[in-house]
Amino acid sequence: MRAYVVREHDGVWSASWESDHPEPVCPADGVVVEPRAAALAWSDVLQQTGGYVGAVPAPPFVSGHELAGVVVEAGPAAEFAVGERVFGFLPRPGAFAERVAASSAFVRRIPDELTDLDAAAITTSFLTADVGLFTVGRLEPGQSVLVQSAAGGVGRAAVQLARAVGVELVIATAGSPVRQAEAVALGATRVTGYDEFPEVVRELTGGRGVDVVLESVGGEVFDRSAEALAPFGRLVTIGASAGVPPRRLKLPFLWQRSVTVGGLHIANLLGGSPELLEPSWQRVLGLLAKGELDAGVALVIGPDEIPRGAEALRGRAVSGRVLLDFTR
Ligand SMILES: NC(=O)c1ccc[n+]([C@@H]2O[C@H](COP(=O)([O-])OP(=O)(O)OC[C@H]3O[C@@H](n4cnc5c(N)ncnc54)[C@H](OP(=O)(O)O)[C@@H]3O)[C@@H](O)[C@H]2O)c1
Repeated sequence: MRAYVVREHDGVWSASWESDHPEPVCPADGVVVEPRAAALAWSDVLQQTGGYVGAVPAPPFVSGHELAGVVVEAGPAAEFAVGERVFGFLPRPGAFAERVAASSAFVRRIPDELTDLDAAAITTSFLTADVGLFTVGRLEPGQSVLVQSAAGGVGRAAVQLARAVGVELVIATAGSPVRQAEAVALGATRVTGYDEFPEVVRELTGGRGVDVVLESVGGEVFDRSAEALAPFGRLVTIGASAGVPPRRLKLPFLWQRSVTVGGLHIANLLGGSPELLEPSWQRVLGLLAKGELDAGVALVIGPDEIPRGAEALRGRAVSGRVLLDFTR
């Protein structure tokens, strides 16, 4: 069968479709899924090029984590039947293939109101945003939040979720006037650039600072985000899109300002403690079913166009998710 395989030879990384990949073996408690859609995340691009910071299998491996499709084989202890529509996230990459094996723990039924593309798009963006804001960040209705990179996949989800649960003040950043306007359309109270946000936070909170920051840029933006917190504020760090670690934040800052820094890794949680994510799944799927959230499908490409999707992500040209449509 065809699979999108990542290889490394003498330090040079490559990824391409190969037609002689072995068929997956169906786990006793799981399923084999024929994907109709899969999401291409920035982390997939980094994994394809050897730039990912974190655990990835040694190459060769099949790329991709998020998929939606139809069950074509079910193990004797599986919670699903052949023909059911399911979506999921694989803690280890392997989603970009004609057939994909997954334990029942990593897939869920697709609600009738969701398309395959929408279902493939929601796990990393909405689950990461929800766990970051509400479980790690303990954000509550009536409080205030700063969402960094609000035109990206996770940022878009965070702005919508914060609004949907009644967070009063949603301040957001984005990299261009067009992307800032998109974040306003999603419900942000005020959207600003990465240089101006500390001033905007001071102005809109009367100098107090925000209760929660969802931070994904790293470097200077991380440091200035920490400085934008109110006493007892929580900074939730989920990534470093700029590729630069924070420089200034030191422990005495946390003591002196009475603030907390926390983090999460959605793949590790899905793989190791999926039960901790259940409240987030309930909230996200409930709001999606009520039509209160946009799944954020921004660019739909054919499976043979993965390099084009990667280029769009690299160029910060996508407002939302990049989806592979396997029916094309
Ligand atoms: N910890 C976790 O479990 C977890 C889960 C999902 C994602 N993440 C991380 O969270 C971040 C956001 O993920 P995503 O899926 O929303 O990514 P995305 O859709 O590619 O959006 C990222 C956005 O970051 C902004 N950005 C700001 N500074 C940047 C820079 N120097 N270089 C590139 N982009 C920059 C860009 O928007 P503007 O052009 O508007 O600034 C870009 O569109 C990534 O770092 C990702 O690795 C972590």
